[in-house]
Amino acid sequence: MRYKRMPIEVESPEEIGYGIIRRNLAESSLRDKTLKELSIPLEGVTLCYGEHRGYGPLRAEIALQGDGLSAAQVLVTTGAAGALFIIATALLKKGDHLIVIRPNYATNLETPKAIGADITYIDLVFEENFRLDPDEIAAALRPETRLISLTVPHNPTGVMISYEVMKALISLAERWGCYILFDETYRDLSMGETLPVAASLSSKAVSVSSLSKAYGVPGLRLGWLITQDTELYNLFLAAKEQMGICGSVIDEYLGHALLKNRAAQLEHNKLFLEKRVDLVCAWVLREPLISWVPPAGGVVCMPRIALSDKQMDAFYQYLMDDHQTYLAPGHWFDMPRQFFRLGFGWPTDAELKSGLESISEVAHRLVS
Ligand SMILES: Cc1ncc(COP(=O)(O)O)c(C=O)c1O
Repeated sequence: MRYKRMPIEVESPEEIGYGIIRRNLAESSLRDKTLKELSIPLEGVTLCYGEHRGYGPLRAEIALQGDGLSAAQVLVTTGAAGALFIIATALLKKGDHLIVIRPNYATNLETPKAIGADITYIDLVFEENFRLDPDEIAAALRPETRLISLTVPHNPTGVMISYEVMKALISLAERWGCYILFDETYRDLSMGETLPVAASLSSKAVSVSSLSKAYGVPGLRLGWLITQDTELYNLFLAAKEQMGICGSVIDEYLGHALLKNRAAQLEHNKLFLEKRVDLVCAWVLREPLISWVPPAGGVVCMPRIALSDKQMDAFYQYLMDDHQTYLAPGHWFDMPRQFFRLGFGWPTDAELKSGLESISEVAHRLVS
């Protein structure tokens, strides 16, 4: 296995330097919180090795999110990223067949590539509203397929699937005897219907999520995976133990306290997302150079700008040089640079509004 740094990481805001970005529209989470804002006392935490599966009360709290799930089916990981790495490396070896949605959170593509898996990509197309077609997945399945990999709600487009499509996809995995991964990192940021935790529906479905996005705490590095399959769980646990024995007891303690407040957080998210999507929508409607697919979950969407290939370098350069506005360009997601991921959850109202205006200013300057 060979590792390669991904553009989304090399060019991430934290690598570029938060100090030089004034309007950060490249983030994919709610705004980061300080420890003081959380006001959770830590003095009582003993800095021992933690439970290898993760802090029991935390796993119990996570299990409450899915009907019939138990703490024993939850494995706490180093962020959702840690869970995805465990799943890919535990389930896939060189040459194994995987079906994965593209574009996607980059790791969902890159780790299988690094393993040398035989990958069938299912491309979500702007002209089709980035809609996932289960028939395309059905057509790509083979008797030897090991894994179907989905991200719902989707990053970078913010689109959702319906409960019917979710059930149809899980049935496909059951029929073909493969696993189906649901990266549900944005589940707590669903705008309409919140889908069930996939792992609660079938022993073939593996769910992944974390606190990073909906709780504004990516620095905690607290995620999890869920599976009903005990043998699979033990395989994942073995991988986790070899990577780091257990997680951080501080992160897990804080994470537990945050999740106990989940209902209030979800209520806040719904109201917040409604306002933010309205704001972006109003901008798209008055901006003739921009077209988009409105998001249905998460804090990102993937608009397209009507500029030529030649104009795109200048577009991103002027945005940064003249407005200190940072976007996630299409090439982070193997897409043309006319697409950009717009993060509308992280910036303040003022930053988001002025960031959008700066996109308009630069775009019109380039076409005039
Ligand atoms: C879909 C998706 N999955 C997983 C992750 C990893 O998040 P974390 O490791 O912070 O939980 C991200 C981060 O951007 C993501 O967008």
